[in-house]
Amino acid sequence: MLKRTKYCGEVNSSDIGKEVIINGWLSTRRDHGGIIFLDIRDREGIVQIVFDPEKNRELHEKAHKLRNEYVLGIKGIVRKRPPGTENTKIKTGEVEIVAEELEVFNESETPPFMIEDDIDVSEDVRLKYRYLDLRRHKIFNNLYIRHKVYQITREYLNKNGFIEVETPFLIKSTPEGARDYLVPSRVNPGKFYALPQSPQTMKQILMVSGFDRYYQIVRCFRDEDLRADRQPEFTQIDLEMSFVDVEDVINIIEGLVKDIFSKILGIVFNQSFPHMKYKDAMDQYGSDKPDTRFEMKLINVSDVFKGSGFKIFNQVIENGGIVKAINFKKAAENLSRKDIDDLVAYAQSNGASGMAWIKFVEKAESPIVKFLNEEKINNLKQITNVERGDIVFFMADNENKVNEILGRVRLYIGEKYNLIDKNKLNFLWVKEFPLLEYSEEEKRYVAMHHPFTSIMNEDKDLLDSSPEKARAKAYDLVLNGTELGGGSIRIHKKDLQDKMFSILKIDEEERKQKFGFLLDAFKFGAPPHGGFAIGLDRLVMILTNSSSIRDVIAFPKTQKAQCPLTDAPSEVTEKQLKELNIKIDL
Ligand code: AMO
Repeated sequence: MLKRTKYCGEVNSSDIGKEVIINGWLSTRRDHGGIIFLDIRDREGIVQIVFDPEKNRELHEKAHKLRNEYVLGIKGIVRKRPPGTENTKIKTGEVEIVAEELEVFNESETPPFMIEDDIDVSEDVRLKYRYLDLRRHKIFNNLYIRHKVYQITREYLNKNGFIEVETPFLIKSTPEGARDYLVPSRVNPGKFYALPQSPQTMKQILMVSGFDRYYQIVRCFRDEDLRADRQPEFTQIDLEMSFVDVEDVINIIEGLVKDIFSKILGIVFNQSFPHMKYKDAMDQYGSDKPDTRFEMKLINVSDVFKGSGFKIFNQVIENGGIVKAINFKKAAENLSRKDIDDLVAYAQSNGASGMAWIKFVEKAESPIVKFLNEEKINNLKQITNVERGDIVFFMADNENKVNEILGRVRLYIGEKYNLIDKNKLNFLWVKEFPLLEYSEEEKRYVAMHHPFTSIMNEDKDLLDSSPEKARAKAYDLVLNGTELGGGSIRIHKKDLQDKMFSILKIDEEERKQKFGFLLDAFKFGAPPHGGFAIGLDRLVMILTNSSSIRDVIAFPKTQKAQCPLTDAPSEVTEKQLKELNIKIDL
């Protein structure tokens, strides 16, 4: 067997005159008037091989029969490519190997798509033939960077005294926001395990056990609707620390993220990441994960419209709603009436009842200016910082809805009209999240994070008077508008926990049934503790500039949570169902 002495991608000018053996896959074959050129690919790159009939007719004959993706071993002498034939696009482009021996390890059928970086082929086909897709350098490189992220993370956390502990995948179903994936227990008929949505309860128990600093690079499972940055199984860099407060956790995470960016992209952040309060994020960006790479903040203009002749807006304000604006600077020269209508349609498709606008050119132009007197127009211009050429968009509704939809319109405009500087890496800590939110559906408060999230010291009294105003010791790390991770300081005292449960209307019975094991553990000396989890897939997406989370996972699921490669999920046999005491009733 011709055993490799060098990776294809690593053959270089220091090898000139030397004999090498490479192993790899045939990427392309070109026949140039007798001489055959092969590009051979392995995980490190591509190298060119030359078969010259003048030198070895038999070998040349053999090379003639080779097809794409054949698996080969080739021995030969490295030489400098003749002047003018160098390829600056590849690492090995200065040299080529003159073949002396060839071994065909295996043949290949014609692949369903070319193994090249920029191929135009449906994702379903790529995922069905994922093993071929993974031969493409771009996808391989994404996974290679992912591998490096694991190593840097472990090195950093080990150095900081964290201990890696595995927690179980078959756990008790505990509510955590998303739907659980369930696994039937054969030996306990009628009972189910849940796959963990995160190791949350287990890592808190490890703190009770005195592990002090825990981490795990861990798979989490959530049965939720999928999006471009969501998978049913995804990976977290999960950690928990004892005897800490908010800033301690933030410092550890920030240090880790900076280490990763500096080691992988060579980008060094000398400053601390900025912090923003949840309330300011919502007010100014309409989002708890603001993309701060561009301005166009949301501005409250309710006061201007109050008492104006614009009835619809007036009514919203009278009913306790709000009017907010965004100023699209210098938009007048670029936006046609149709472009404006498209933006309004976008807002409507996101649930807005409408979106008004005023174009400020010679004068204010808009179907709504007739409702506003000059004073109001001037007022508006001042508040929204209007200069000639700006178009201001307005939305009126209840505050949450305006924030959500206008926030989305802001991002849509930013993306569509290239207002976002893609070279920026804007990290942001969002802090002081509300502890609770009121669920209209359930007619009770629910925990915004989870019921074990601690409250800010100065807000403790609010739990009795106005719990909705209480802020949590919870924090998210946001990068360019993506939520990279989140965490909190947890409640470790029984009295506060009891109070939380009563506000959440979780009675004794339910507490015991759902969280009994954790509450029991807390009876035996729970230290103050808190933690964090980074969404590793999302982090790698940003590090590799990938637009889909599927491009950074070796064997991902489609939007319909299916795996085209293996055909999961699939039906199982009658016998398997019977063993599990399960009947299918569709
Ligand atoms: P949280 O639910 O915020 O926190 O999750 C942490 C991070 O995980 C990533 N993430 C996902 N990535 C891909 N696909 C998904 N379906 C998905 N869901 C979440 C996000 C998110 O910020 N136990 C707590 C952490 C803690 O409090 O310590 C937790 O799981 O990047």
